[in-house]
Amino acid sequence: MRAPIKNFLFAAVLICFGVTIKAASTLTIAGTWCDYAQSPLGIENPSPGLGWQLESAARNQTQTAYQVQVASSEELLASGRPDLWDSGKSISRQSVHVKYAGKPLSSRQRCYWRVRVWDKTDVATPFSAANVWEMGLLEQNDWVGQWVGYTAGWPGRALYFRYAFELEKPVLSARAYIAGIGYSELRLNGEKVGDQVLDPGWTDYTKRVLYVTHDVGSRLRAGSNVIGAIVGHGWHGAPKLRLQLEITFTDGSKKTIASRGAHTIARDLWYVTSGPIVEDSIYDGETYDARLEKTGWDMPAKRNPIGSGGRRERWQTVVPVGAPGGRMVAQTLEPIKVVETLQPTEIKEPSPGVYVLDAGRNIAGWARLRVQAPAGTKITLRFAESLRADGTVNDDNLRKAFATDVYIAKGAEMEEWEPRFTYHGFRYLQIEGWPGVPRPDNFQFRLVRSAVENNGVFDSSNGLLNRIQKMVRNTEANNLHSVPTDCPQRDERMGWLNDMTVRIEQALYNFRMGRFYAKWLDDVTDTQIEDGSITDTAPFKWGKRPADPVSASYLLLGWSIYEHYGDTGPMRKHYPAFSRWVDYLTSRAEDGIVSYSSWGDWAPPKAFAIPGSIGAGAISAGTPGPLMSTGYYYYQTKLLAKMARVLGDDTEAKRRAVMAEKIADAFNREFWNEAIGGYGSNNQACNSFALFLGLVPSKNVPRVVANLVSAVEQTNGHLSTGNLCTKYVLDMLAEHGHADLAYRIATKTEYPSWGFMLEKGATTLWERWEHLTGGSMNSHDHPMLGSVSSWFFKYLAGIRVDPSGPGFSRVLIQPAFVSGLDKAEGSYRSLSGVITSAWRREGGRIVLEVSVPVNTVATVRLPVRDPAQVTEKGLPLKNVNGVGGVSAEATAVAFQLGSGTYQFVVDANAPALGQVERNLPAVAALYGKGI
Ligand code: BGC
Repeated sequence: MRAPIKNFLFAAVLICFGVTIKAASTLTIAGTWCDYAQSPLGIENPSPGLGWQLESAARNQTQTAYQVQVASSEELLASGRPDLWDSGKSISRQSVHVKYAGKPLSSRQRCYWRVRVWDKTDVATPFSAANVWEMGLLEQNDWVGQWVGYTAGWPGRALYFRYAFELEKPVLSARAYIAGIGYSELRLNGEKVGDQVLDPGWTDYTKRVLYVTHDVGSRLRAGSNVIGAIVGHGWHGAPKLRLQLEITFTDGSKKTIASRGAHTIARDLWYVTSGPIVEDSIYDGETYDARLEKTGWDMPAKRNPIGSGGRRERWQTVVPVGAPGGRMVAQTLEPIKVVETLQPTEIKEPSPGVYVLDAGRNIAGWARLRVQAPAGTKITLRFAESLRADGTVNDDNLRKAFATDVYIAKGAEMEEWEPRFTYHGFRYLQIEGWPGVPRPDNFQFRLVRSAVENNGVFDSSNGLLNRIQKMVRNTEANNLHSVPTDCPQRDERMGWLNDMTVRIEQALYNFRMGRFYAKWLDDVTDTQIEDGSITDTAPFKWGKRPADPVSASYLLLGWSIYEHYGDTGPMRKHYPAFSRWVDYLTSRAEDGIVSYSSWGDWAPPKAFAIPGSIGAGAISAGTPGPLMSTGYYYYQTKLLAKMARVLGDDTEAKRRAVMAEKIADAFNREFWNEAIGGYGSNNQACNSFALFLGLVPSKNVPRVVANLVSAVEQTNGHLSTGNLCTKYVLDMLAEHGHADLAYRIATKTEYPSWGFMLEKGATTLWERWEHLTGGSMNSHDHPMLGSVSSWFFKYLAGIRVDPSGPGFSRVLIQPAFVSGLDKAEGSYRSLSGVITSAWRREGGRIVLEVSVPVNTVATVRLPVRDPAQVTEKGLPLKNVNGVGGVSAEATAVAFQLGSGTYQFVVDANAPALGQVERNLPAVAALYGKGI
């Protein structure tokens, strides 16, 4: 008997006999969160999104209702008298982004909350354990702290701030709100607060300055205390600090300590000095002179260190400095942290006294060293991605980035050091000036990035694919530093919107990106001006205004956050700005064609680029810029229509859809070539892009697909595409029945291919298909060509977004059993839990294991004709608990799966096998329109 029915009958029997024991729910609440975070501090969202994950031992389980309670104290919550919000029993399956809808919340408010849910038999779980979120400083005038610095400056030097204070009473709780820009480290009573580095995240500081909230209650004591803050340049320039420490004592009284300039008060001064960090620059590196350390500078002292050191210490009182201009905004994305530590795999001595260490792979971060050296010993650390023939580091492709750290020893017994305000993209570290011979245990390599969580795993029977997957994933990881950068090593490191148009999906399959992307969307909107234009990079430092129209990443982010996480917040927030950007494109269109183009399908293999064009010949020769610009103009207009519909504005949705149709007509009028049956130059890029956009009238699809296939055959299974269309070639081949050919492309090892990069020793993706190491646009850590990773997840493992179930409340499981591959496994951690699709060949059959989280429904679509060709543990589909809606489509069998773990056996000798993706009407309906 099915478990829910059993439960129901059990409950009914108990009721009949007047027994009051309730049947236990089939569901358990495995975890709760608020705005993607565990128990966040510093939330500014007036209606944070609450979520919970459910588990069940039984198959086919969903929640049927929930009740959320929110209270201002733990006691009120526990006693069942939530004073802020009680949703009551809300009949709904929703378990992610349930919007808080209670009393308005105020700055600093702590909100304790819990949830219970009802299962399919209407039995409730107990309430979850209480969780908490805390509001940040919601009003600008909550900030009483001033921006402080030191006007004369110590050019190039990091600033050290110190404030000593007495507390008369025991402390109950305390919060430190700190914005130290560029980057800062907060210290209390001699210890670093928190484990973040390179904090806060980079923004356009004239628009938004991120502040960080720390819980510091346990670090303060009745008596003497000292706040220390070290502030480096980061992306800002002259270091500045704004800090506010808000203390609540056990007797309920409160005290606020805030940064302020000296002239505001006579006693109680904030001091500033320079220190051992004598130079810090993101591109150039950090110089640390340990002889200049001021021991105890951040600790209470019997004698005030300010006075005791005399002139040599050079402590000055701080002065108020100009505010950067931006609003103070809570940092809600994951901070940058050291996420992994590696040991050198090898140390060589290419010339006497010059040592080169190998980190084993290309990483973003820095080196930590342990050294014993006489005072004044100067150790130089140079970072690079490749080596010269003589074995020394090759920094040519770093362009003007100096990427050099210098450590000057103080002569202690053992000194340990790592930089604070720089980071490098490197595999090799060259050391000069080391006292004696360095040993591996003198060094650690620290991987540093925004600490977003891992979200997906892909594995297969083909080692090459697995290495490509690792390469893409590591490249994406190395380029998450509060901004999705193009590269981590040279004098650039910008959030390029064109690259992002194809990066988003690969990142979403590999990492949990909700908070990170919400922040970067704000960065992009900050670049928008009156005429609606945005810029090529955000924050804007490189590239042009207006952005190339291929910068569809802007709208796509809003849409993708909705698709992957079911979160409408970002698209609602940015919709007006999205709209203005599309209107800007309209203002640049003539008869529906946008012909301005800066980069287009950027950086294809050399033979397919215009020699001598910008970016050392990176403009595509055969893919017209106006075709790309107009295509993306259509795409973005279409996205607006879809978003408007989700946001409930049908009139706007219709208006945008009509606009999109007009652009579609213009695109076909301008770029379709009836004689050849293709678009533009009929190359891989043009045809795959038109298919992706869904702009090809159905009668023409077979010709376009045939032309795409023949273009790939002409290059012997190699790509001729740049950063954008590389994605569409693979995806469209798979969508139109040629997954085998896409697989052939993905498994090539000669130039140009991902396999070629690996053959040449790459551990992260290159910027160019060519193997180049000279002083130009030759990054070796560039995620823009990495869409092959999302292809693995979507087509080999077959885990795909189902547009009818945002946030993976519904998922499509539709693997392509490509020839030559014996096994593919993917898992994706949705907000509701882990979705797995893993298949392998066994004899003449395919075994497919699928797991579906509670509250999720999967549609499985398999390339067989007859449902009888699929069984689950020996049972025909119709008899399997959790399986429903079995239907035979033209060339596939489809069925629905409730939650649980299943093992299907598919008869691989089925006639339609391997052909099936070719003509799936349902897939065409979902994807044929491209978006
Ligand atoms: C960046 C690329 C970007 C390009 C656009 C380069 O400098 O590194 O990632 O696509 O500029 O022009």
